[in-house]
Amino acid sequence: MKIFLDTADVSQIREVCSWGILDGVTTNPTHVSKTGRPAADVYREICSLVDGPISLETIGLSAGEIVAEGRTLAALSKNVVVKVPLMKEGLKAVKTLASEGIKTNVTVTFSPLQALLAAKCGATYISPFVGRLDAVGHVGMDLVRQIKTIYGNYGFKTAIIVAAVRHPLHVLDAALAGADISTMSFDVLQQLYQHPLTDIGIEMFLNDWKKVPGK
Ligand code: E4P
Repeated sequence: MKIFLDTADVSQIREVCSWGILDGVTTNPTHVSKTGRPAADVYREICSLVDGPISLETIGLSAGEIVAEGRTLAALSKNVVVKVPLMKEGLKAVKTLASEGIKTNVTVTFSPLQALLAAKCGATYISPFVGRLDAVGHVGMDLVRQIKTIYGNYGFKTAIIVAAVRHPLHVLDAALAGADISTMSFDVLQQLYQHPLTDIGIEMFLNDWKKVPGK
């Protein structure tokens, strides 16, 4: 499973790049607003740091506006993916952008039928928001499994990005469900490699090493 970082914070992106496990980045208007910087500056900097897919979200509400924004965003770098909200105008825009060879990530997805429509329009990626579903009493990962089944049934190539990930168990369940990608915050990503038994184990080895004679 590929691992994307869900942020617009370039210091976090730079740090995770150095770990050697980063496959891509997803941003959204909330993340960009938290940086306090102009979006164009943030986008340019992320593009200079990351080779993998970088999702940049459109704001327009009509297909025409989304397509125009999408073309501008896609021109920033060859690895830009245009992130489009799942709504009727968004789907129309995805169809047009796909016909121009521009990659899209259809976001704020909460139902398997929304995901089916996105795939039919040629979406490159679909982003089901599992954490937000869990928060309202639905099992978010069930949506991922349903999308996986539907895409498998009909041979859609749209890749599933498990999004709105809240904790490591979401990442584990995404991998067990066979999701293509999981996108997560820096905090969740850090939790993936940390384990108290690993810390204790390392400390034990280092203490025992001190007792080895002749070093
Ligand atoms: C994914 O691409 C989204 O940016 C992200 O996961 C949004 O979800 P959240 O704001 O609920 O975390």
